[in-house]
Amino acid sequence: MLEKIEALRQEVSALAAATLQDVEQMRIKYLGKKGELNALMADFRNVAAEQKRELGQKINELKTLATEKINSLRDQLASADTEDETLDLTRTATPSHFGTRHPLSLVKREMLNIFASMGFTIAEGPEIEDDWHVFSSLNFPADHPARDMQDTFFISRNPVDVLLRTHTSSVQTRVMEKTQPPIRIVCPGRVYRNEAISARAHCFFHQVEGLYIDKNVSFADLRQVLLQFAREMFGPETKIRLRPSYFPFTEPSAEMDISCNICGGEGCAFCKGTGWVEILGCGMVDPNVLKACGIDPEVYSGYAFGMGIERITNLKYRVKDLRMFSENDVRFLHEFDCAR
Ligand code: DAH
Repeated sequence: MLEKIEALRQEVSALAAATLQDVEQMRIKYLGKKGELNALMADFRNVAAEQKRELGQKINELKTLATEKINSLRDQLASADTEDETLDLTRTATPSHFGTRHPLSLVKREMLNIFASMGFTIAEGPEIEDDWHVFSSLNFPADHPARDMQDTFFISRNPVDVLLRTHTSSVQTRVMEKTQPPIRIVCPGRVYRNEAISARAHCFFHQVEGLYIDKNVSFADLRQVLLQFAREMFGPETKIRLRPSYFPFTEPSAEMDISCNICGGEGCAFCKGTGWVEILGCGMVDPNVLKACGIDPEVYSGYAFGMGIERITNLKYRVKDLRMFSENDVRFLHEFDCAR
């Protein structure tokens, strides 16, 4: 029996397990009801009295050894198991995906920086406006089509017209009402028009408005600022041309084209063979507008210009479909990663 105990002691000491099931098998084999230790105990009853003390002690030692061994194997495997689930130090780190700036934000920032370098400060105004700031103060005749339901989203018409601004020119009025010249501002913001949504039109888009009011401001000043802007935005080779146009709030008014930045002015499909693409409207602020805002047109003059941020972005990045700007498709947005 002594040999049997010794053999079991060696066996138990050498036990190793790969899984918790293995450990359970061992527990059954050594410590279970029909296990080795109970078998030894059964034999122990038949042992001669003078051997009982020694053998009893050995059996107890073996039982303690087996219990401790099996418990420690179980503990090791159980803790390895939970570590597995929560922390694997060998795994490669999950890459973190940073967001990207929206292309319109990138272009807006670039536009504002160019104007800031020429001394313009930023002014902002509300998107929900009234008729006075969007139309009346800007010299729109009462029957001008832009005031029509077809073009403008009205929020209420009684007692006064409350509407979503259709252009950022409304911020001009808000600043002129509160500030005496010199005024030199650019006004970025979202505008709304009642248009059917398509690749080329949207019911909301973004503009940057510019306004400069001081003594002796001339059309030549306007032209120079716009030329500088065009060259910084589209490259030093860029040419501009001003075509006569009409806006209620400027007199004279013009639309500005830049030499097509795709073909360099040679003529291509993008510029419809003309070599020019339109980018903005501008003009000398109409004396009626200055008067409406409490500025004396006998003393002061000024110019204004307004352009669409989407339009400038399209020219820079050739985004063909306006809807992509508001769909938030990350595949599209990530294309501007490098432009950060
Ligand atoms: N407000 C005009 C528009 O929404 C753009 C514009 C044209 C603004 C001429 C101006 C300007 O300040 O002088 O289409």
